[in-house]
Amino acid sequence: MDFRQLGSTGPRVSAIGLGAMGMSGMYGPADETESIATVHAAMDAGVTLIDTGDFYGMGHNELLIRDALRSSGRDRGEVQISVKFGALRDADGGWLGNDARPQAVKNFLAYSLRRLGTDHIDIYRPARLDPAVPIEETVGAIAEQIQAGHVRHIGLSEVGAETLRRAHAVHPIADLQIEYSLISRGIEAEILPTARELGIGITAYGVLSRGLISGHWRADQATAPGDFRGISPRFAAGNVDTNLRLVEALRAVAEAKGATVAQTAIAWVLAQGESIVPLVGARRRERLSEALGALDLKLGADDLAAIEAAVPAGAAAGDRYAAAQMAHLDSEK
Ligand SMILES: NC(=O)c1ccc[n+]([C@@H]2O[C@H](COP(=O)([O-])OP(=O)(O)OC[C@H]3O[C@@H](n4cnc5c(N)ncnc54)[C@H](OP(=O)(O)O)[C@@H]3O)[C@@H](O)[C@H]2O)c1
Repeated sequence: MDFRQLGSTGPRVSAIGLGAMGMSGMYGPADETESIATVHAAMDAGVTLIDTGDFYGMGHNELLIRDALRSSGRDRGEVQISVKFGALRDADGGWLGNDARPQAVKNFLAYSLRRLGTDHIDIYRPARLDPAVPIEETVGAIAEQIQAGHVRHIGLSEVGAETLRRAHAVHPIADLQIEYSLISRGIEAEILPTARELGIGITAYGVLSRGLISGHWRADQATAPGDFRGISPRFAAGNVDTNLRLVEALRAVAEAKGATVAQTAIAWVLAQGESIVPLVGARRRERLSEALGALDLKLGADDLAAIEAAVPAGAAAGDRYAAAQMAHLDSEK
């Protein structure tokens, strides 16, 4: 396994992290036994960074990670757990907004520690900026939890450059978690340069655009109720065909390198800088194994140019989220 430093103050983590969201229903039903086997396989391969959110399956994802860690027989210190908090949900799985007030930070953290069966969280971050709460107050509250020994590092998620600066002025930020892939390159203009300037790492999610640019997605593929892809503009009729044409162009480049589409898409993100750690959302061992193959794929300048020609920046059809969800993204303001 290769390792990367998350920002100038963050932990040293595996160059690819495992995102566990899909194991708790966000992409339709997932098999729990296979999910746990996938977490174990990731650890066996040297993956140390595991990303979750307390709202993924309303706590289910954290309990799954607890069970996977316990049954792995590994020491807690061998992995870094990154947890997002703040998203409010109802019993039907609906989304009610975000709460990142200082007292909410303490409350969410207490529940996460209990569900994860651990005494500390390695990187703790609000899932979205709470527009009603200055970021300084949220970060200050997490910093207090560092002092108390419950949290090791502070991260952010989907915030813009100005919020990054304000937060970092209160306490060093280890990493910004944000969507970044061949077809989601919005961070390159301002957010990524700001993160680099401040010494903040990036944990990139959606590197396969939720499976759309994995090489396995079909235009006629059905989505189960509750699958995020059922409401994603990029998977919508009319857009999906345009996007899959980009995938076929990428496939030609990948095959010439003896790699798969998914490996090429992940390797492209890895090649964008040492401070960037892709999170892959594999929920089956077979997919994980394919994704980790990206670490062996070295892309030179000619390869990167061929990839850029196959999938030019801005060529994707559709926004990365539906309008209602886009409205919660400080990174898109
Ligand atoms: N901060 C945020 O706002 C935010 C938002 C979203 C996600 N995240 C985090 O980032 C993680 C990754 O995001 P994501 O799930 O959207 O990422 P992704 O890696 O772009 O998409 C994952 C999906 O791609 C499909 N896939 C196909 N081939 C694959 C392969 N070889 N390896 C892995 N997946 C493959 C899988 O679908 P099938 O299983 O159906 O084949 C999987 O569900 C999440 O688990 C979560 O922890 C953060």
